[in-house]
Amino acid sequence: MVNNNKTYISELKNNVAQEATLAGWLYNSRASGKIQFLIIRDGTGLCQCIVEKGGVPDELFEQLRHLGQESSLTVTGTVRADDRSVGGYELAVTNAEIISPATDYPITPKSHGIDFLLKNRHLHLRSQRQWCIGKIRHTVIDAIRRFFNDNSFILIDTPILTATAGEEEQTLFEADYFGTSMYLTQTGQLHLEAAAMSFGRVYCFGPTFRAEKSKTRRHLTEFWMVEPEVAFIDLDGLLELAESFVSFITVRVLEKNKTELETLGADIAALEKIKPPFYRLTYTEAVDILTGQKTKDFLAQQLQELQNQKQQIETETKELENKQGGQLKQWQKDKIAAELIELRSDLIETNIKIENNPKHAQLAAEFQWGKDLGGSDETIISQMHDKPIFVTHYPKLAKAFYMKTDRDNEEVVLNFDLLAPAGFGEIIGGSVREDDHDRLVARIAEQGLDIENYNWYLDLRKYGSVPHGGFGLGVERTIAWLTGEKHIRQCIAFPRLMDKVYI
Ligand code: 4AD
Ligand code: MG
Repeated sequence: MVNNNKTYISELKNNVAQEATLAGWLYNSRASGKIQFLIIRDGTGLCQCIVEKGGVPDELFEQLRHLGQESSLTVTGTVRADDRSVGGYELAVTNAEIISPATDYPITPKSHGIDFLLKNRHLHLRSQRQWCIGKIRHTVIDAIRRFFNDNSFILIDTPILTATAGEEEQTLFEADYFGTSMYLTQTGQLHLEAAAMSFGRVYCFGPTFRAEKSKTRRHLTEFWMVEPEVAFIDLDGLLELAESFVSFITVRVLEKNKTELETLGADIAALEKIKPPFYRLTYTEAVDILTGQKTKDFLAQQLQELQNQKQQIETETKELENKQGGQLKQWQKDKIAAELIELRSDLIETNIKIENNPKHAQLAAEFQWGKDLGGSDETIISQMHDKPIFVTHYPKLAKAFYMKTDRDNEEVVLNFDLLAPAGFGEIIGGSVREDDHDRLVARIAEQGLDIENYNWYLDLRKYGSVPHGGFGLGVERTIAWLTGEKHIRQCIAFPRLMDKVYI
């Protein structure tokens, strides 16, 4: 595609041996005597542009040599295929035009702390990692819509301002609505159930809000959730829908974003295994695993591995520190400094894991049937599996009012959480809905919710009630799992966190 006589970097493959003009920003540059290597990014990729003295006017050669990171410019030259170059193509520059020079760009290729990067998110979005994650997010969202649209689901836009709690009341964000209280939606589910009785198969997809008081890597206060809801479906049907949905998303990301996954260091081989059927455990089986010998052995081995890892990090750190003393060029010093920052943050993380291991082992060993699974319990189960795991039939008392009880065992509900593998944890929560009017009234009362607010919802059980159910998938958690990103705050352009909203 040509844009105003400019060629996008992603299209250079069609322009080999021809002249092309790129328009972008200076990502990085290096000069050695008579030659300069400019890495340009244009939103579609990176390209190394080679400027030789004599190949461009002398004055321009000097201007480019002093051009600051993130200056905007156009460069013209001949396209060459080169496997060693980023993106596989490079440009032998014959001309360039500086559009807007930048000096002292605050984010340098050296590592920075996360706090600094979040404060500068408006600029950090230009970094390679954020760019790769953004592209993968785009594919995930496109795949979500495609999957439901291609499977005869109708999109319903559920309201963001709501009068009722859909999940725990403690996480409601209150808004003043002309003098009365409304809330920012925690889920579109209740309204979606009404729509399912009209259209049969529906989904909603939008921002969701939770005043979560937990500062974990898995929680945002504003996140994106997609929720399908289906009339005439049972728990097995929901699990089949969820596993084909998650597999579809994974395949699309592997098809569209292999390069980005590689850049991010994602475990591509593991993602290639994500195919139905996923593992299926009941909550009771999960508790047996947590409290059993297998988990004890697993965690003991993990502790050993963490200690080895720690030793390795310490050895590597010492080696680099020794190197630092030697005669080095500035770029070599910068590289070592960046690697040391990485190693130090790895060490902090490994130490935290070493410290947590016995605590998590104890929590697992002493787990009592009846509690909801905690973050560390989910992590353990998830680490023990190489494909996503459905955990079904949780205790009724640990779960939301709308979940249908198992008529064969009234202590549990017909629900599931889907845990992503390799330690990631929950990405989906879903259930069959209580479709019996009187039982639902009793559940609402039991949970201390005001029945007045749910009259319309109860109507759905009065006028042609049918077995139905659905689930919600968290977009940022899914992206974090696919990309191997540790914290979901990296998986949305402008994250909202409990303790801070930066920009
Ligand atoms: O398990 P949850 O709370 O389920 C519901 O909201 C149901 N009403 C969905 C339904 O059945 N229609 O949330 C669903 C998913 C979680 O599995 C998780 O991926 C994500 O939403 N999620 C969060 N993501 C980021 N930050 C948070 N604070 C999240 N809370 C839930
Ligand atoms: Mg949940």
